[in-house]
Amino acid sequence: SQNIYILGIESSCDDTAASVIHNGKMLSNVIASQKIHEEYGGVVPELASRAHQQNIVPVVHQALKKAGVTKDQLHAIAFTRGPGLMGSLLVGTSFAKSLAYGLNIPLIDVNHMQAHILAHFIDEEGFNKPSFPFLAMTISGGHTQIVEVKNYFDMTVIGETIDDAVGEAYDKSGKILGLGYPAGPEIDKRAQKGNPKAFTFTKPKVDGLNFSFSGLKTAILYFVQREVKANPDFIKENLNDICASIQYTIIGILVDKLKRASKQTGIKQIAIGGGVSANSGIRQALKDGEQKFGWTTYVPKFEFTTDNAAMIAIVGYLKYLEGDFAEQNVSASARLKI
Ligand code: KG4
Ligand code: ZN
Repeated sequence: SQNIYILGIESSCDDTAASVIHNGKMLSNVIASQKIHEEYGGVVPELASRAHQQNIVPVVHQALKKAGVTKDQLHAIAFTRGPGLMGSLLVGTSFAKSLAYGLNIPLIDVNHMQAHILAHFIDEEGFNKPSFPFLAMTISGGHTQIVEVKNYFDMTVIGETIDDAVGEAYDKSGKILGLGYPAGPEIDKRAQKGNPKAFTFTKPKVDGLNFSFSGLKTAILYFVQREVKANPDFIKENLNDICASIQYTIIGILVDKLKRASKQTGIKQIAIGGGVSANSGIRQALKDGEQKFGWTTYVPKFEFTTDNAAMIAIVGYLKYLEGDFAEQNVSASARLKI
């Protein structure tokens, strides 16, 4: 039997991450998150790139150490080629290239969006792997897509946002409410204590399986401005209800599109991935969908929902098995498509 060790490297946004996977099982998953962006209320590309340069060597070192693996045992180096911030991607790409070259082992390029989906194939006790075909909804601060997954590397995007990502909708709403960045987790926490029907926000009208979240953000802004004019303490007095109402609206949008996608494709296996899949509302909605619509749903382990390198390493492993390697002259691609 085979004994394959893959090192995965992720640097597409503001997390520098490295992971070692052994035959599909995670041995280590190290992440250096960049706190610096919090004070700016969003990711600052130049700062991200510089932090990656500082973090990448120690993070890779730790990932190997935690896995109990030396670099000479590695079979291949997998790295995020895109999509993401160019300055950030370049750090991981050049590092992976030099390491693979130095060790004289294959280099494997990974699409970050595919990785969010294929994270479901990391061997993990208590988590089932979806079988093909399935629908994957990737929801995070940078992406919102519904993907029809026919096989590991046979995927079609059947719906995506035409403006903001769903995580952005959370973070921008949070900013309006004076919450810290990223606001998603706090809105989620407060939503569970509030009344989801307290306030109504109209849902965007977008055809087919595409999403739009920028109108919602504006609707929330105008609503809050109007109410605060009448009562300066409006936000403070109603924060949990506002959060619950925003969450109710957003989850409603996501579930509507999932229902539509399932109906259109006839696929009832549904997986989610990305930072927003940590959300309690979407998790509950999927569970409800099992009863209501006969869905089988897959929610990844929390550490594989947000950006991480284990999802890059698992794609590296799957590509390694297929002998699908990158050339040394491969370049980072900020707008790489699935
Ligand atoms: O996948 P991720 O770590 O990074 C990328 O954007 O790629 O996702 C981060 C996003 C942020 O917008 C954050 O507010 C959101 O995920 N998020 C949540 C929750 N946890 C994280 N949004 C809603 N509810 C949550 N529990
Ligand atoms: Zn991501």
